[in-house]
This record gives sequence, C-alpha cells and structure tokens, in this order.
Amino acid sequence: MAVEITALGAWTRSHYGGELRATDIGSKVTVMGWVHGRRDHGGVVFLDLRDRSGLVQVVLDPECSKEAHASGADVRLEYVVAVQGEVVARTADTVNPELPTGEIEIIGRDVRVLNVARPSPFPVEDETEASESVRLRHRYLDLRRPRMFRNLWLRHRLAQRARGYLNGAGFVEVETPMLTRSTPEGARDYLVPSRVNPRTFFALPQSPQLFKQMLMVAGIDRYYQLARCFRDEDSRADRQPEFTQIDIEMSFMGQAAILELAEGLVAEMFDEAGVPMPARPLPVLGYAEAISRFGTDRPDTRFGLELVDCSAVFAGSGFKVFAEALKRGGVVKAVVVPDGTSLSRKDLDDLTGFVGTYGAKGLAWIRIGADDWQSPIVKFFSDEERAALASTASLREGNVIMMVADQAKVAHDALANLRLHLGAKLGLIPEGEWRLVWVTDFPLLAYDEEQRRYVAVHHPFTAPVDEDLATLETEPGSVRAQAYDLVLNGTELGGGSVRLHQASVQERVFALLGIDADEARAKFGFLLDALASGAPPHGGIAFGFDRLVMLLAGEQSIRDVIAFPKTQRAVDPLTEAPNEVDAKQLRELSIKLTR
Ligand code: AMO
Ligand code: AMP
Repeated sequence: MAVEITALGAWTRSHYGGELRATDIGSKVTVMGWVHGRRDHGGVVFLDLRDRSGLVQVVLDPECSKEAHASGADVRLEYVVAVQGEVVARTADTVNPELPTGEIEIIGRDVRVLNVARPSPFPVEDETEASESVRLRHRYLDLRRPRMFRNLWLRHRLAQRARGYLNGAGFVEVETPMLTRSTPEGARDYLVPSRVNPRTFFALPQSPQLFKQMLMVAGIDRYYQLARCFRDEDSRADRQPEFTQIDIEMSFMGQAAILELAEGLVAEMFDEAGVPMPARPLPVLGYAEAISRFGTDRPDTRFGLELVDCSAVFAGSGFKVFAEALKRGGVVKAVVVPDGTSLSRKDLDDLTGFVGTYGAKGLAWIRIGADDWQSPIVKFFSDEERAALASTASLREGNVIMMVADQAKVAHDALANLRLHLGAKLGLIPEGEWRLVWVTDFPLLAYDEEQRRYVAVHHPFTAPVDEDLATLETEPGSVRAQAYDLVLNGTELGGGSVRLHQASVQERVFALLGIDADEARAKFGFLLDALASGAPPHGGIAFGFDRLVMLLAGEQSIRDVIAFPKTQRAVDPLTEAPNEVDAKQLRELSIKLTR
C-alpha cells in the first residue's frame, strides 16, 4: 500500500529528539527525523526516531491515537517522519540505560510521513560492515551514522575555536586564490586549463605559501586561513588529494615566538575536544636526535623501543654482513624488545619480510636466554663483540635484539617502522596517552640521488639558521633550517618555518636547488620582486586540520572526518569524479586527448 506523504505545513520542530531527557517529562513536543527502527508489539508500534542528536523512542498506541497508530503502520526504515506527542517516563522495566534518552519515550498523538525512502544499502549504525566504497557511494546515508555526525560536529567546533583564538590574537582571515600558478618543487600539481588563454593552465594551490608571504610584504602582519590545499600524490590513511590546513603567517616574529603562539592554538583545540593537553612549553627534539633515537622525524614518543646504535661494536666483525655494511659507510642499528618471550621463531622470520618492504636486506635477531644467546648469527661474533653488544644495548635475559645493517637511511626507515609495528603488536602503546613534540633543526637541504641535486627539506622559502648562512654554498648539506614540525603520537600535525625575507638570500637558495637566475626570474619573479619591496622578517606554520580532527576524534582515517573525501585511488565514488568530459568542452579548452 502506498504511503501517504504529508506536507510539513506549519509544523515546526520543538526539540531534537535525541536531546530529550527525564526533565522534559510532561512536555508536548514536535520531533522530526528518520525512522531508525520499527517494532510492532501486538498492536502497539514502537518507532526509533533518529535525528542528528541521536535516537528517541516513539510509542504509537491505538488506545491513545488511532490515526497516529495507523500512520506508523506503513513506515519503513529511513522514512522521514514528524511526530507530535507527549514525553512520558518509561516504566522501570523498559528503561534503557544504553541510550541517553533511555528514561523517556514520546507518546505519539499525530504522525506525519514527510517522505519515503528506498531500502538503505547498509544499516545506519555506528558499527558497520559496509565497505568504504559503498559508504562513500552513499555518503549521505553514511553521514547519518551518529559517529560521523559527531566527527563533523567536532570538526566544526575545532574550526570555530581556532578562529576564535586567532581572531583574539589579532589575526586577519584572508582568502587566497584557488586558481593559481604552477611552480616547481613540492608535490605534483592539479592543473586547470584556461579556456580564455588557450595552452595555459592554472594550478590548484598545494598550500597558500607564497600568497601568505606576500600578505606579510603587504603589511597584513598576522594572517590565517582555513585553507584548502591540493596535492596530486598517493592517498594514505592520513593523506588526501585535497585537504585543509589551518594556515598561519606572522611578521616580526622569530621561531620561539611562533612556536609559543602555535602551542596556544593546539591547547585550545585539545580543550575543545576534551583531551588532556600536555604541559607547555612542549618538548623539543632536534632532527638529528629524532632520527638517531626513533629512525624518523615524526617519532611516536608514547613508548620506548628506541633505536640503539651498535655500529661501533661491529667495525671489524667476522660477521661479513655487518662488517661490509659498515665498510660501505652504513650503520648497524637495533631495537631491543624487553620481553621477547611471546615472539616465536616464525614471528621473527616474518619480521624479516616486514623490514624488507622498507628496503632492509635482512633482520638479524638474538634471543637473550638465561645462559645462552639463541640466534642464527651469533656464532660469527667474537667474545669481545658479544660483551660489547651486551653492554651497548644493555641486554638482559628475556630480551630479543633485532638488528639491521645498511645505509643509515634504510636502517632508520626499516627500524622506525619495525618499532611502530612491534609497539602495536606487543601492546606497548598506551591508550589515552597524548604526546606532542616539536622537531626542530631540520637540515635546510637534502641531496636527492635520483635528481642528482639538492632539494629543500621543508620548502624553498625556508630560512637557514643565521649562523649557517656563511656556509650556505660551501657546506650546503650541513646547513640547518629555521623549520619546525609538530608531531602528535607519531603523526605530523603541522610544520612551518621562518622564511627567507631577503631577495638576495632567496636567490642563493634557488641557486643551490639548481634554479638559476633566469629560471628563478621566470618562475618566481613575483616572489623575488615582493621580497625586494621591503619584506619584513616573517614566518608561520600550517596545521593539517583533517589530521588534527582525526586524532582528536579517535579515528584512524582522515576520510572519517571529511564530509566528502576521495578514496585511496583519488576518486569520489559519490559523484564519480573525475570523469570524462564532452568533446565540445575539450575543444573549447584547445585540448586534444592522446588516447
Ligand atoms: P606542509 O607541506 O608540511 O607545509 O603541510 C602542513 C601540514 O598539512 C598536512 N598535510 C596533509 N594533510 C592531509 N593530506 C595531505 N596530502 C597533506 N599534506 C600535508 C600535514 C602537514 O604537517 N606551506 C607549508 C607550511 C608553512 O611553511 O607554513 C606547508 O604546506 O599535517
Ligand atoms: P645471510 O648471510 O643472508 O644468510 O644472512 C644471515 C642472517 O643475517 C639472516 O638472519 C639475515 O636476516 C641477517 N641479515 C642479512 N643481511 C642483513 C642486514 N643487512 N642487516 C641485518 N641483518 C641481516
């Protein structure tokens, strides 16, 4: 039987159903939402009505209202209904302590079916078995799940709180262009063809970096923006092709002052999310120390398993694998699992495969027993090496030490990931712990073997540490940057730097990056002109807003805190973008496809 759809008419909602409590008992209410559940108990119909605030139970009893009961007879899940009725206490035996509204229910006097709905491809419940592509394909249903609304609501509040803090500190929110210029360095650009100017392209901004610097030249002094950024790189759990930054820039401020201001912002966000903010000032870790101890510049400092450098132990070792790696300028580094009894031989062999995915050629392990060391390799060690290893790595009975011999980059990368893997596997990462750490003193430049040139570690507009300016050309590899990253539980939350504000120094850095004067003029002329026009000393930072919301919401993927995200394959299953376009559109853009 076709259900009669009624107009909303003059009805207005009096309450969000999910917000009704025992204090509302006796109130006449009008609630509106979706049918989350329907049960027919011998003539009495129970509807669970869902709106963004949660669920409330509606009772349709023919004894109270024949019409209301009749309207409830034909509703299906996800139908849109409005209910007028009275809030009453549930009887003691029907109170539901699981539900915030579990002490009350609404006796429906009048029910209007406002719309029908076809069957949902997955139940609208917090816990869902539906695959992510199905969820994204029907995102409007997925977002009806209370958990998703909670995430969007938290995101909204965090954005408001950030704005409030920055507004209070005299920052001006300025919008910068979405259609901008493609510049070298950085990630791959998303390009937009210009119809009006055939053969030319805009690029979507990877960040508002150069615009915010030019705002400083313009004397804006303090800028911020919740800025959308676009990068054509492979998606991951914490990466999207388009994402949002809380982007900040300020003039006449050095690194220390910028970090202090940024910490204040983070503290506000933690407070808004009800998460305990670590004591300020936050700990600072030098880049070199971070790499040496954790193998990565975004260390998860919630647990130990720090890397131990055992290179000195094996300089002239009879174990060829180690000796050779060291001879080639590599390192032997290790992690020591304090209680390795739960790791079987098979586990240890599997871990060799694990580090292999990071390029390590092997994983040498030793199980420290009461009176012997069990290991496939220990027979190659001299007594002195054993003693030196025991003391360097403070080995004790029950430990398992795992070692990688390789070039430092490979060893660090493999062990950093092994450390995280073991931390999770062995339950060493404490839940509910929040560790923020600044990583500073990054190198300005890193040598890229593939391109056979230096590349900027942060970006090409970052200033070196003042003392290192003199050795910029002579020792480019050891120049330190005035750059900083904020790391939360092993995720890079934000990063920034003090900028090059003198055109002449910016040109020197371009030269080191292999951008000669002509190319610099052609590609960054506008920046150099701006810097030459009285640029104040300035610097800033950008926080990955999606990542921040993800972590504070306790989610594992930034896709769960973005209303309409892309999949790992950078497509939107909802609108099926990107898509092919008409030949006519292409002609207008003077674009010919090769396939
Ligand atoms: P950076 O490139 O380090 O710096 O970006 C700043 C922060 O943005 C977040 N982020 C991302 N989040 C989601 N998906 C991505 N693909 C993605 N890429 C980056 C990270 C990162 O820490 N203009 C400079 C900032 C500055 O110097 O002021 C910049 O964009 O959390
Ligand atoms: P092989 O000589 O290749 O049989 O390796 C002997 C042992 O050393 C195995 O347990 C390997 O996993 C380990 N091994 C090999 N190469 C390395 C390396 N680069 N770093 C650490 N261990 C290694």
